Amino acid sequence: MGRVIAIDGPSGAGKSTVSRRVAERLGFSFLDTGALYRAVALHLHRQGLTGDSPEEALRDSIEGTMVAFRTGSVFLNGEDVSEAIRTPEAGHYASVFSARKAVRDFLFQVQRDAALHGDIVAEGRDMTTVVFPDAWRKLYLDASEEGRARRRYRQLKEKGIEISMEEALRDVRERDIRDSRRDIAPLRRAEDALYIDTTDMDLDEVISCILSSLER
Ligand code: DC
Repeated sequence: MGRVIAIDGPSGAGKSTVSRRVAERLGFSFLDTGALYRAVALHLHRQGLTGDSPEEALRDSIEGTMVAFRTGSVFLNGEDVSEAIRTPEAGHYASVFSARKAVRDFLFQVQRDAALHGDIVAEGRDMTTVVFPDAWRKLYLDASEEGRARRRYRQLKEKGIEISMEEALRDVRERDIRDSRRDIAPLRRAEDALYIDTTDMDLDEVISCILSSLER
C-alpha cells in the first residue's frame, strides 16, 4: 500500500482540480472517486434501474462491470465515458445511486485497489472516514454554498452546458442534503482532517496551503 492523501468535501469545493494539481506536484497518482460513482450510476441508469430499485437488482447489474479511472479518463466496460459523466444529470444520478449499499460495496474495493501499487491523492466524500481511515494525510476542503454554486456554474458553462446560477445553487443544495444525510458513508468532516475553507482563496493558494501542511 502506498501513501494516501485523502481529501473530502462537499460538491463544488474545488476538490478535483486541487487534488489533481497536488498529485502532479508530488508525483502521486490522482483518484477522482466521484468519477467512479458517476460511471456506475451511468451504467445503472442505462440499464433502466432507479434509486428505488431493489438491492439485488443493483448488485446483479453491477456484477462483472468494469470501472476504471486512468490518467484522468474514466472507463465503463472499456468505453471512455469521461464526457458522458460530466452532465448535471449524471451528477444527479451519481448522488442518488451512491446512497445504495450495493454501489458503495462495489466501489470500496475498486478504490482500495487503486492505492495498492503506489502513492495516491484520493478525493471524494468518504475518503478520510471510510475508504482510507488510516491515510497518511487527511484534508477536508469546504467553501460557502454560493462560492460552490458559482464554481459549478463556471465549470459547466466552460463545457458548453447550459445552466443558470439559480439551477447551480439548487443543485449544490440538493446534493449537500443527499450526500450528507444518507445512512451509509455520509459526507462528514473527520476529526483528524485538516479543514480548509477555500471560499476566498484562489487555486494556487489552496495548493500551497496543502503542500505546506504536508511538511508538518
Ligand atoms: O464529486 P462528484 O460531484 O463527481 O461526485 C458525484 C456524486 O458521487 C456525489 O454527489 C456523491 C457521490 N460520491 C460519493 O458518494 N462518495 C465519493 N467518495 C465520491 C462521490
